[in-house]
Formats: sequence, structure tokens, C-alpha cells
Amino acid sequence: MKKSYSLAAILLGTTLMGTPLNETTAVQKGESASTALVQKLGSELKAVMQKDGPVEAVNFCSKNAISLTHEASKAHGVKMKRVTLQQRNPLNRPTHEEIEIINTWMSAMANAQQPMPVLSKTTAGFTYHKPLVINNDVCLKCHGAVDSSTPLGQALKASYPADRATGYKMGDLRGMIVVDIPQE
Ligand code: HEC
Repeated sequence: MKKSYSLAAILLGTTLMGTPLNETTAVQKGESASTALVQKLGSELKAVMQKDGPVEAVNFCSKNAISLTHEASKAHGVKMKRVTLQQRNPLNRPTHEEIEIINTWMSAMANAQQPMPVLSKTTAGFTYHKPLVINNDVCLKCHGAVDSSTPLGQALKASYPADRATGYKMGDLRGMIVVDIPQE
């Protein structure tokens, strides 16, 4: 009787703690959290674009991109941010280490290779760096050759006077999703 009770306790304990964090599970967590974020931002953006048009979608991104990123982080028990060498929002500036990783991806792509995700060990757990490549032409509406005389161009200029996030083409590296995965 006593034996089966403790076995149940062990089983319950294991379920509550989830799988232990190691390189493999960290990659899985990083991959699922960053994929969920891209899907969430993409579907919400698409819905606003279709319903209210690109100018409203700019306002939607300004107001919600960072808070949606925080929500998706919470849902996955991680901390995420989006960073890039050419920021629209200056808050999305990369750290020194992140710049180095982006640069290795840029040189890989210049040699016709795929940019590969990078996992780093940190004191708090792991950090997963996921490349974000422009693979949907909806992105180019606001990150491609934007005509500054259109209502969209003006909305971008009004909210982001120092915007550096235009001029991209399909297949370009837009930046990275950084996923901090805590030990527990
Ligand atoms: C309707 C216009 C619009 C479209 C379409 C759009 N974006 Fe953005 N994007 C923005 C705005 C506005 C910001 C700044 C958000 C903020 O202030 O947090 C932004 C910021 C970003 C950032 C954060 C880095 C930075 O420059 O500040 C990334 C990464 C990004 N967009 C990727 C994409 C990708 C990938 C797509 C296609 C799926 C896309 N965007 C489509 C308007 C758009």
C-alpha cells in the first residue's frame, strides 16, 4: 500500500515538473514558442490588414507587437523578444552577442546556406536564437520598398521617424527571435 502511494507521488511529481530542461528539450521549447509567436503575430496582422487596411495594421503593430510577444512568452513559460540590425522600433536593438549571431547567419546566407538556430547556455537556463526570414510577401507591404508619399508610408513615418526597417526583399533575413528558457 505504502509502496504504491509513493509511486503515485513520484508520477505526480514528474508530471508537475514537466520534462527536465536539457539541450534537446530547450531546442524543442524554443522552437515551439518562437513558431507560436510568428503564427500569432502573423494571423492577427493578417486579420487587421484584411478588415481595416494597412494603415490601421501599422497602428495595430505599434500598439500590440510587443505586448503580444509578452503574452506568447507567458503562455510558453519563456521570455521572447524580436531583434534586428535594422530596427523600426528602437527597442528592438540587438545585444553584442545577438549581433554576432545575426552576422554569422548573414554570411551563411551570402554563401547560399540556411541560417541555423543557435542555442546558448546561460546562468538561468538556455537562450534559443531563431532566424526570422521574410517568407511571405505581406511583410513587404511595410518592410519592402515603401513609398513614403502613400498613406501607409506616411503612417510609418509619423510613428517611426527613424525607421530603418524598409527595403527588404523576399528571402532576406529580417532579424531573430530570442527565446530565454528558464531552468524550471
Ligand atoms: C502593416 C504593416 C506591417 C506589416 C505588414 C508587417 N510589419 Fe513588421 N513591423 C511593423 C511595425 C509598425 C513594427 C514596429 C512594431 C513596434 O513598434 O513594436 C514592426 C516590427 C517588426 C519587427 C521587429 C523589429 C523592428 O524592426 O522593430 C519584426 C521582426 C517584423 N516587424 C517582422 C515582420 C514580418 C516577418 C512580417 C511579415 C509576416 C511583418 N513584419 C509585416 C509593421 C508591419
